[in-house]
Amino acid sequence: MKLKQLLNEPAIALLHGFPFDRSMWRKQIDFLSANGFRAIAPDLRGLGENRFNGEIATMDDMARDVAALMDELRIDQAVICGLSMGSYVVFEFVRLFPSRVRALVLAGARAQGADEAERKSRENKAQDVLNDGIGAFVEAMLPDLLAPKTLAEKPAVVARVREMILRTNPHGAAAAQRGMAARRDYSVDLSAISVPTLIIAGREDVIRKPDDAELIHRGITKSILEVIDDAGHLMNMEQPDLFNRVVANFLRMIH
Ligand code: MLT
Repeated sequence: MKLKQLLNEPAIALLHGFPFDRSMWRKQIDFLSANGFRAIAPDLRGLGENRFNGEIATMDDMARDVAALMDELRIDQAVICGLSMGSYVVFEFVRLFPSRVRALVLAGARAQGADEAERKSRENKAQDVLNDGIGAFVEAMLPDLLAPKTLAEKPAVVARVREMILRTNPHGAAAAQRGMAARRDYSVDLSAISVPTLIIAGREDVIRKPDDAELIHRGITKSILEVIDDAGHLMNMEQPDLFNRVVANFLRMIH
């Protein structure tokens, strides 16, 4: 049976990480669409082709943008899935619009808010990207974003990630850094999340640690945690088949 037939509300919103854009979900969109699912993947404020050019792109404004897009597309309720920065937006979305959430998928996620050191570091990074452009940082970022095996054996994935980062507008990157610095501490919101939640972690993720995923898992009653081997922070691009299978199993299960 197609996944679409298994859910009352077959839509799924895919929210990208930083400094990326909606193209990071290509393999998930193909897979979900082939299974009759309505997948939507917007470019979040200031990123990809999104034209926002303010100084700060907050996580709650990004969540409101997603709700507005759902209004436009006449989608009342959806599974809301986000990776990393996208997961902050997911936490905002479920807090602001709980009745519009069928279920959550949190990949490479972290619930804790930013402390003073993180806020300072993000402001420095915002200044650096405005001064020097994103190209100055891309090679240093790749080893943190991707598992060693991806870096060694999947040159096409590495190239796509590099190109995606290089397309990022420095103003959008700075605005998102400031928005992430100003985010809430979502760990206090976890116990209020009552929808089924799938948490996915990359075993080799050095940006988000297993403890980050465990904390969310402990906090959300109806959550399950899946760990994908040979995957780093960009697990959905590094191991798309495994990622898709885990998501598909979850979607079947929540029916
Ligand atoms: C991401 O991949 O979205 C970033 O690592 C998020 C962050 O900097 O917290």
